[in-house]
Amino acid sequence: MKISVIGLGYLGATHAVAMAKLGHQVIGIDNDQAKVASLSRGKVPFFEPGLSQALAEVLADGSITFQQEHNQHSASAELHFLCVGTPQQPDGSANTDYLFAAIRDLAPQLSAESLVVGKSTVPVGTASRLRGELAGKAEFEPKLVWNPEFLREGTALEDSLTPDRIVIGAGNRSDAEKLLQAYKPILDRGTPLVEVDVQTAELVKVAANAFLATKVSFINAMAEIAEASGADAVALADAIGYDERIGNKYLRTGIGFGGGCLPKDIRGFVARANELGVGSSLDFLVEVDKVNQRRRQRVVELAKLELGDLAGKRIAILGIAFKPDSDDLRDSPALEIARMLSAAGAKVTVTDPEALAGVGDEALTTEPDVMAALSGAELVILGTEWRQYRDLDPAAAAEQVATKTVIDGRNVLDVSSWQQAGWCVIALGRNIDNG
Ligand SMILES: NC(=O)c1ccc[n+]([C@@H]2O[C@H](COP(=O)([O-])OP(=O)(O)OC[C@H]3O[C@@H](n4cnc5c(N)ncnc54)[C@H](O)[C@@H]3O)[C@@H](O)[C@H]2O)c1
Repeated sequence: MKISVIGLGYLGATHAVAMAKLGHQVIGIDNDQAKVASLSRGKVPFFEPGLSQALAEVLADGSITFQQEHNQHSASAELHFLCVGTPQQPDGSANTDYLFAAIRDLAPQLSAESLVVGKSTVPVGTASRLRGELAGKAEFEPKLVWNPEFLREGTALEDSLTPDRIVIGAGNRSDAEKLLQAYKPILDRGTPLVEVDVQTAELVKVAANAFLATKVSFINAMAEIAEASGADAVALADAIGYDERIGNKYLRTGIGFGGGCLPKDIRGFVARANELGVGSSLDFLVEVDKVNQRRRQRVVELAKLELGDLAGKRIAILGIAFKPDSDDLRDSPALEIARMLSAAGAKVTVTDPEALAGVGDEALTTEPDVMAALSGAELVILGTEWRQYRDLDPAAAAEQVATKTVIDGRNVLDVSSWQQAGWCVIALGRNIDNG
């Protein structure tokens, strides 16, 4: 099928490549000329494992092209996927302006046969407003369905090609036919298909993210209790996680969630619930957000407990991306901690295998080499659980630093081997005996 993908960020670029890998003819459209040029050259403008290789393959076989604006070529696509950003506004609500701008550009290109598929994460009711926008522009009834995306950065391509479910929200079944056809190779493998109304499809995504955020903040709230009572939140998570109704995934205590989705999605959800007059239904998400923010502050408190006045103190932060296998710095807990420490006067050096180029903060020193980053540090903080930091040799690291104290912000270090190498290990939600 001929498909256009509008918006080529983390979601759209991955979706475009995935659709081409499924055998479709894909036209990627983004109003950012630099992004279009980069993708056309085979260079993915962000780090995502496996995506560059897959892009090279689909460029080579001619199944994908990129352009800045719609033209006759893109107008003849049967499906148009909307993948533009919906960032947070200052009041917490989601900014849907990019979607409306995209739909205004797209409207003159549509025919009675085209299907518009929303994939961006939106406040419930957005699809109906977009339909209204389209209705005013066309002589026919434009078809628009919602198909939320659940890919996770770090495993985005794999998640797109082998999703755990496909959710489609359509006014009527016939509207979704073309989308089902596009996903046929995935659906033929037995991937569950959940067909719902449009509002439910919009809600599924924010509800899923609200649940995940709640799970993380639940265990981090337990960490706060553990810190106050001398218990161990890692052991607690392990013990409760065996109950399959609870499950052990997303139950690791640490500096909390971040990124371009979870934080903005729960805030947008709260804002939308308030608009709908049911704000109290999501009051708990306000607390979920607060617990998450408090974990970042807790690291700064722990640093002060260790170092006293932070002015001039040298702190190394291992990992600055919001999660491993990504260079995404949006609402990154590690980056915010780095900035808070720096604002308190510390000399902060950050290292990360992929995300340093995006830091752009003059107050922070960026150092790609981990051993050089550790050099002379009076405190080390593990901010992002990249494999290379989890596997770091504590003896080699010990030789670099001025003081062998590490705060494990993700609870991934092997405490006993770090202690054996002479380190004092501090971890969130734990009271570790450092002898
Ligand atoms: N990043 C993820 O892991 C992920 C996962 C699932 C859903 N989502 C959702 O997908 C949406 C996009 O997220 P993202 O992380 O890819 O954002 P992003 O900021 O990385 O990408 C958005 C892209 O849209 C482009 N754009 C904006 N307006 C445009 C227009 N009018 N025409 C063409 N292009 C336009 C921008 O230039 C940018 O490249 C959001 O709603 C997000 O919540 C993201």
